[in-house]
Amino acid sequence: MAAQQKTFYLETFGCQMNAHDSEKVVGTLVSQGYRQVPTVEEAGLVLYNTCSIRDKAEQKVFHRLADYKKLESQGKKFGVLGCVAQQEGNKIFERAPYVSMVCGSASYRNLPEMLVQIEAGNRRVSGLDDRETDECFETEFTARTNPHRGYITIIEGCDKFCSYCVVPFTRGKERSRTSDSVLAEARQMADLGYTEIQLLGQNVNSYRDPSRKKSFAELLASVGELPDIKRVRFMTSHPRDFGRDIVEAIDSVPTLCDHVHLPVQSGSTRVLEAMQRLYSREQYLERISWMKSARREISITSDIIVGFPGETDEDFEQTLSLLDEVKYDAVFAFKYSPRPNTPAISMDDAIPDSEKSRRLAVLLEKQRSIQQRRNHNHIGQQLEVMVEGKNETRGQWIGRTSQNKTLNFTAPANCSFEQGSYVPVQITTAFPNSLLGEMVQSA
Ligand code: SAH
Ligand code: SF4
Ligand code: F3S
Repeated sequence: MAAQQKTFYLETFGCQMNAHDSEKVVGTLVSQGYRQVPTVEEAGLVLYNTCSIRDKAEQKVFHRLADYKKLESQGKKFGVLGCVAQQEGNKIFERAPYVSMVCGSASYRNLPEMLVQIEAGNRRVSGLDDRETDECFETEFTARTNPHRGYITIIEGCDKFCSYCVVPFTRGKERSRTSDSVLAEARQMADLGYTEIQLLGQNVNSYRDPSRKKSFAELLASVGELPDIKRVRFMTSHPRDFGRDIVEAIDSVPTLCDHVHLPVQSGSTRVLEAMQRLYSREQYLERISWMKSARREISITSDIIVGFPGETDEDFEQTLSLLDEVKYDAVFAFKYSPRPNTPAISMDDAIPDSEKSRRLAVLLEKQRSIQQRRNHNHIGQQLEVMVEGKNETRGQWIGRTSQNKTLNFTAPANCSFEQGSYVPVQITTAFPNSLLGEMVQSA
């Protein structure tokens, strides 16, 4: 097994924060002399970066661990990272004794020492910092998977405690990086050829610069003003702290993308209160009106939970009417899933799953027709895409607009584009989830 010892396989589930954590974990392991391999079979160390946002996500982890059990006899070592690791902690060792490492995201800075312990044969290595940690996972070793578009975490953790959500328990308290550190990383990425940067946090609007130099909107503008940076995105915005200054920054800095993901969760103020979201329907719509009066048209997307405990037909109707009012460009909708540790778990989850599914289907159908109409408005426009690849069977190039819409396009056979290049495209056809167009040929 000696040849296998310094190889690892990593599988990742969950949100962008997890995806980016994995890039940092890979970088850290590589800096410790490990080599990443593409299959479990080839690996000495098998890592799984987990998500527990809904029950289904968590169940996936335990199914996968059951699969791993069969591989135990091959001398492989297993590690569980991420939100399920933090949530279940040392209980994972009992449930799956062949796991030798359990590490939550707030402890990744300790990974190098934990790896040494695993190599020394320690069977139960854990990193489970509680909510009180002030540390961020900052590393110079980030193995970004895309050479043109990359994430930067600006704030970790969450202090919002929405009544349904595990994140405050799995990711620790809110802690921001200094604006100098974020800008240094962005500058370094620009030097490496990155043109698109996405600033990440569970709640980017809660960003508080420890050095008090910049507000979130100012940081956003500064990243957008770096030479060679063409697109800056940010995710996720919480409506409570979403300030008008963000819209003003988008107005004045052209590289800031005209897209804001502003999850509403419900259109009913009564449900929002039970969710402890800290804003009303009216306050949410006020923020939407700020965006609608921006100079550029800002694309707005959202997350919605259906079937939250106590959600009546009338509450649900209010969510549907909010869709009509806002006219989102995309909605990620979920059936409410009761989660451990959260206040909502003790509420009566009386809405049957079949009714949750019905509401979800009604909502998605409505949203689909809204998107079809929204996308139809793009026909005839000229938009710039960042090229992501090519669909050879269809003979179409695949790209993304500044509003983060998928835009596929055709170009003369003698044209070829590198991934990450920017191309002007004339929109010819609209679908609910994508646009189609033709490359604009310069005269
Ligand atoms: N920080 C972000 C969301 C992170 S989780 C925010 O505040 O908007 C991503 C989405 O998962 C949430 O917006 C919510 O819609 C959904 N979600 C979170 N907990 C859930 C639960 N218990 N059941 C169903 N969906 C949930
Ligand atoms: Fe969860 Fe609410 Fe925090 Fe978002 S803001 S991560 S939904 S607790
Ligand atoms: Fe999942 Fe944790 Fe992200 S629970 S959604 S991986 S913060």
